[in-house]
Amino acid sequence: MEGMFDARKIERVFFNLLLNACEAVAPAHVRIVIEACSSLASFEVRVTDNGPGIPESIRESLFDPFVSSGKPNGTGMGLAIVNRIIQDHGGAVCVEKTSASGTTFLLKFPRSLAGLDAGGQLAPVPHSA
Ligand SMILES: Nc1ncnc2c1ncn2[C@@H]1O[C@H](COP(=O)(O)OP(=O)(O)O)[C@@H](O)[C@H]1O
Ligand SMILES: [Mg+2]
Repeated sequence: MEGMFDARKIERVFFNLLLNACEAVAPAHVRIVIEACSSLASFEVRVTDNGPGIPESIRESLFDPFVSSGKPNGTGMGLAIVNRIIQDHGGAVCVEKTSASGTTFLLKFPRSLAGLDAGGQLAPVPHSA
């Protein structure tokens, strides 16, 4: 996938998501699927695990700093950092689905900030004639 982004920061995003997935599932059973697709203007990446799902009590505040659940040494910073980095790239991250059989995080971000309009939204892609 080609685009303009801070490779180290995007690597950090995937590291944090994969670490959480690994921490949510017993090592012998962990299954993580990463799906990526791109259009002319943007990337869409899904990270899916087969863990027990996001605890109900934190579903609304998951991306806030210091929100952690079920981990003795959790800092609650992992997803706050993911959210910040993706926002800095003009994109957005959300939990697409979560249940007792697994969780999917969906990331969307533009190939390049040059493609954004003044409001920071993905600008419409011009159609070729
Ligand atoms: N893939 C996941 N499956 C289940 N719960 C998750 C997953 N990712 C994150 N969580 C929940 O969200 C909380 C916040 O994650 P994060 O911000 O990375 O902080 P930390 O990992 O330090 O607790 C975790 O403590 C965990 O309860
Ligand atoms: Mg974490």
